[in-house]
Amino acid sequence: MSQPTSQTMGQQFGRRSWAEPWKIKMVEPLTVTTRAEREKCLAEAGYNTFLLHSDDVYIDLLTDSGTSAMSDRQWAGMMLGDEAYAGSRNFYNLEAAIQETYGYQHILPTHQGRGAEHLISRTVIKPGQLVPGNMYFTTTRLHQELAGGVFHDVIIDEAHDPTSLHPFKGNIDLDKLQALIDAHGAAQIAYVSVAGTVNMAGGQPVSMANIKALRALCDRHGIKVYLDATRMMENCWFIQQREEGHADRSVAQILREFCSYTDAAWMSAKKDNLVNIGGWLAVNDWALFEELRNLVVVYEGLHTYGGLAGRDMEAMAIGIRESVRDDHLRSRIGQVLYLGELLTDWRIPIVQPIGGHAIFLDARAFYPHLQQTDFPAQTLAAELYLDSGIRAMERGIASAGRDPRTGDHYYPKLELARLTIPRRVYTQAHMDVIAESVKAVWDGRESVRGLKMVYEPKYLRFFQARFERL
Ligand code: F0G
Repeated sequence: MSQPTSQTMGQQFGRRSWAEPWKIKMVEPLTVTTRAEREKCLAEAGYNTFLLHSDDVYIDLLTDSGTSAMSDRQWAGMMLGDEAYAGSRNFYNLEAAIQETYGYQHILPTHQGRGAEHLISRTVIKPGQLVPGNMYFTTTRLHQELAGGVFHDVIIDEAHDPTSLHPFKGNIDLDKLQALIDAHGAAQIAYVSVAGTVNMAGGQPVSMANIKALRALCDRHGIKVYLDATRMMENCWFIQQREEGHADRSVAQILREFCSYTDAAWMSAKKDNLVNIGGWLAVNDWALFEELRNLVVVYEGLHTYGGLAGRDMEAMAIGIRESVRDDHLRSRIGQVLYLGELLTDWRIPIVQPIGGHAIFLDARAFYPHLQQTDFPAQTLAAELYLDSGIRAMERGIASAGRDPRTGDHYYPKLELARLTIPRRVYTQAHMDVIAESVKAVWDGRESVRGLKMVYEPKYLRFFQARFERL
């Protein structure tokens, strides 16, 4: 099933387009501001889009996390919340939805993804152990480091090149992993941390062949494979579209197979699972589960609610079943592709191939005259907001933070501004408006100066850092 492109759309007579498999029942008005108002808001926010008030934002592409529109079924499910402290029926519905959809045996709810990351990291990482992963994610790596682990990037080199057209840029480089095992010994590896549609690489998927080969390699050394399932549905859509032998399978079937090669998973349900809050941990090993189930009581809440209301768990159970449907994923990723292809047609530098949840603008290519320490991606997100009130997010040196061993910045190869598309929220007309604003910022790129950081918090600095214009 090939996606229409912006080139083919409208040109082919007799075309058959896809459309969203839903219609809109309730709307939320948007605010439009003037450039002068935005100048003021941005300066007050220290040139950090995280610090803007959302009332001052027109189209909000900060994140796809917790920003999905829920369906009428999910809202109806909210009314069925069983708010008992223990043993809520909504927990059992959620447990069944995860078991049936992902195939793991033992389930714990958590308040969101990082709650699950915290529990698994502190349970399985011994201080000094290495945690190889397919590129870092901010909260994931921090929890691994706080537990005493040392993260090692083992993603394929193509992932660091925004122009490489490799169809599975999320893949683990098995040679890099083997070299790490050879150098340190398998006992020094806590587990391999695999994420679907790798966020920091531009939403790039992992292939079925790669996870299968990883499983075989890890089995030879007795190493566990843990999955960040946050955007796995989207990953599986790419497998169906791009990987030989999967075109006739449903995303649901592909997902079950993929997860079967892993030992456990954590989830930020605020993404793929179509809810505004929630997460979970899922493991197959009973002894590990017992430890985690005990720890969840300390940090999240009882093991049948994990920091969530019953109604949240019900919405999640329903969301899981909606989110694995092929028609949902076709329109979700189709919308991201539509925006990405408009920008590609206009020769605006974005990470290729277009990923699952966002368009990533290549800030180095926008601003070759800036040093990385001038925060080019932070600058680009600021410029976009100034142009149109569209809110993007920095995914570059500010997000990468500092190396705890040296205290220096991490200098990621990718310096990106992320236009993250919330699920089921905006229309194709919004995508046109976004593309036109990016074009205006691209056209004005030469006169742009960078930023300097004037306030830097210790943890996950990008959320709260403040900047000034150079
Ligand atoms: N893993 C990945 C791949 C994520 O993208 C996120 C969150 C998390 C884990 C943590 O989950 O937010 O529920 O605690 N990503 C958000 C984003 C914040 O905007 O990309 P959480």
